Amino acid sequence: MSAPLLRVDDLRVHFPVGGGLLRRARRFVRAVDGVSFAVARGTTFGIVGESGSGKTTTALAVMRLLRPTGGRILLGDTDLGASEGEALRRERRRFQMVFQDPFASLNPRKRAGDTVREALELMTPDDPADRESRVAELFAQVGLRPEQRMLFPHQFSGGQRQRIVLARALAARPELVVCDEPVSALDVAIQAQILNLMQRLQREHGLTYLFISHDLGVVRHLCTHVAVMYLGVIVEMAPRDALFAQPLHPYTTALWSAAPSFDPKARGRGRRIRLQGDPPSPIDLPSGCRFAGRCPAAEPACAQAEPPLREVAPGHFVRCRRVEVVDGQAQPVLG
Ligand SMILES: Nc1ncnc2c1ncn2[C@@H]1O[C@H](COP(=O)(O)OP(=O)(O)O)[C@@H](O)[C@H]1O
Ligand SMILES: [Mg+2]
Repeated sequence: MSAPLLRVDDLRVHFPVGGGLLRRARRFVRAVDGVSFAVARGTTFGIVGESGSGKTTTALAVMRLLRPTGGRILLGDTDLGASEGEALRRERRRFQMVFQDPFASLNPRKRAGDTVREALELMTPDDPADRESRVAELFAQVGLRPEQRMLFPHQFSGGQRQRIVLARALAARPELVVCDEPVSALDVAIQAQILNLMQRLQREHGLTYLFISHDLGVVRHLCTHVAVMYLGVIVEMAPRDALFAQPLHPYTTALWSAAPSFDPKARGRGRRIRLQGDPPSPIDLPSGCRFAGRCPAAEPACAQAEPPLREVAPGHFVRCRRVEVVDGQAQPVLG
């Protein structure tokens, strides 16, 4: 990989819970518990996983919307973790975020055009000259009509509201756009339109996306690389095609099985994997592999020590001691 635009190194976000009572020891939700990945410029890095696996917390930490407990976040050469105040505000221009619910991220009392203009003002406070034409240009780029600048958020559909959010994000001329379930709240027919728009904007503006979703179809469509999260850690990470053609981790296999159109086994031979039980609490994590309690392939040693994320094929990483490499080929545990 050429020098990555974003590098996340051993990121940890632990939330204190309960406590307050002096006699009780403080406990922590280990929402993100040692996550590392790198995203090359112009690519789309997907993070998938069940609800509660730590995807949103990872995104918020990358955006510096919450303070990491540990680890490093590098945007180009800049250490975002070390940036504060004015320096952080300057860096903020370089990354923008798109949330699941565009209604919640827009001011209901502000006209769409004003929302986008204010984003321009924040970014270029001393260049008011061609601001109005920039707003019109951004509206055109996201497929909104110029006269819609006068409307309020409630006068738009959900898909159109996400277009406003994208126009506001683009106003900053960002390098990285962090998208947290950007189409999950939209009708399926509208989802495709917004995803196509995002792909076009990526090409036209050379954007890099960190794309979070629980929808495997969306991730396969859009992402060049994918990480699978489970209880605060990455359990598997690979280029998209490798991961969808041959998931190696039992958890990834189970996720794919739950979505038959993505399951290589469902299309041919073999049994489907059904997950048993619920994930353990992220407060009292088991020692050893976090997935062992639900894993159909677990053996006693899996509960002893947490396995490392290791590279078993070029660019293909897996956190499972049961994955073997035979004659240079990684063997899925549940074949
Ligand atoms: N502010 C918070 N305080 C305490 N726990 C939190 C907080 N935010 C998230 N969590 C917990 O952290 C874990 C990961 O949450 P989240 O990052 O939202 O997961 P995802 O986006 O994958 O559904 C969950 O167990 C969640 O309950
Ligand atoms: Mg989330």
